[in-house]
Amino acid sequence: MHDDRIDRRRFTTVLLGATALAACEEGEPPKPADPNARPVVHLDALADGSTVDFWYPERRHAAFAVKLGAPVDGGVGPDQDIVAWHRACPHMGCPISAVDVQRNCLGPCPCHRSTFDLRTGVQIQGRASQNLVRVRLEVLADGTVCATGIEGVPFGDPLPEGA
Ligand code: FES
Repeated sequence: MHDDRIDRRRFTTVLLGATALAACEEGEPPKPADPNARPVVHLDALADGSTVDFWYPERRHAAFAVKLGAPVDGGVGPDQDIVAWHRACPHMGCPISAVDVQRNCLGPCPCHRSTFDLRTGVQIQGRASQNLVRVRLEVLADGTVCATGIEGVPFGDPLPEGA
């Protein structure tokens, strides 16, 4: 015997499932795994040798992302060449604005002339005794580059417990 009520319920269930699937496929943009992640730039807006400034994790932490044009350890993006660093010099916190991608160099720092390797964040010369603070990046499926965390202690911030 045929039960018409069950067929209608099944039809409704299938219809709702298909609608939900269509909504997932069309609507929601991809999200980073880390809920604290913040969008920085889209891959399309970052040409080889270019930079983009942003703040992370707080508004007092000036940072920049740079597309170096050659793969580096920890680099993200299709060419694994995008990295990000804080602009604050680890010596006394002066902001470093000079970026020389040709020479893979950040600096010199305007205060005491420290320079840093853009590929690694390691100090090349000057009074600083620590390396740059790295901003970790993640690229979403839609090409959005997001900041997801930092490696190092930003100048002026308290050291974490036990450090
Ligand atoms: Fe940059 Fe001193 S603050 S070298």
